[in-house]
Amino acid sequence: MLSSYTCFGKNHLHFEELESTNAYAAELLSKTSPMDGTAITADNQWGGRGQYDRKWLSEPHKNLTVSLIVYPSFLHISDQFYLSMAVALGIIDYVEAKLCRTAHIKWPNDIYVGDDKLGGILIVNQLQGSTLSSSILGIGLNINQNHFPEEVPNGTSFQRITGAQFDLHDELIQLCIHLEKRYNTDLRHKSHLGLHQAYEQKLYKKGENIQFMDSNSTNWCTGTIEGVSPEGFLLIRAREGTLRKFSLGEVIIKY
Ligand code: BTN
Repeated sequence: MLSSYTCFGKNHLHFEELESTNAYAAELLSKTSPMDGTAITADNQWGGRGQYDRKWLSEPHKNLTVSLIVYPSFLHISDQFYLSMAVALGIIDYVEAKLCRTAHIKWPNDIYVGDDKLGGILIVNQLQGSTLSSSILGIGLNINQNHFPEEVPNGTSFQRITGAQFDLHDELIQLCIHLEKRYNTDLRHKSHLGLHQAYEQKLYKKGENIQFMDSNSTNWCTGTIEGVSPEGFLLIRAREGTLRKFSLGEVIIKY
């Protein structure tokens, strides 16, 4: 039934400035029950956060900084990485359709075009019993920003890639269409194998040699990225043949 599906961005709360759209979404969720698919955006997100609580820097008025609130109660907690896969693939579908360029996901949450970083994802899940009660899908995508700070030496944007300027509201609508498709079809209908295969096809440097270091060690090893496990662990085949499994923060990779 279509009415039970999530409408991404139908309810849109836009702010001139916010510290962080994710933080605002979390506050809103703690007080009310916003509509499924509510989008929160800001022209100037001055205290944006990324993985490991790193800063997410975004020039005011230039980029998409959006948090979407969803209620994936159909998802068992052991399947939560499929939500990450669906979101990453929705963004990649959108970027590829827009730019006619191949995009990749650098595990676990970066969106890459070539060797440059176009965007990032920060998902915060709330659990209730054995399922997900709500999730905040935080997405930062560089659209019209032309210059990047030293901290982001390989930053890129739609503008840098194409030379054109983009309307941020139009881009948000397009992004929401692609996210909604992955979420309401693949994820909701439990096409987990399909999501997994599609994610691995889009995995940055899959099948290529990389250097990696276990965070408990001081030695660099050589290996090949083989894929991800359904739980979201990165799988690396070490040169001597062992298959190593790493969670976020357990491995440093030199791509
Ligand atoms: C990363 O690459 O580490 C993830 C970056 C996620 C940034 C987005 S921008 C919108 C939302 N609000 C935040 O504070 N962070 C996310």
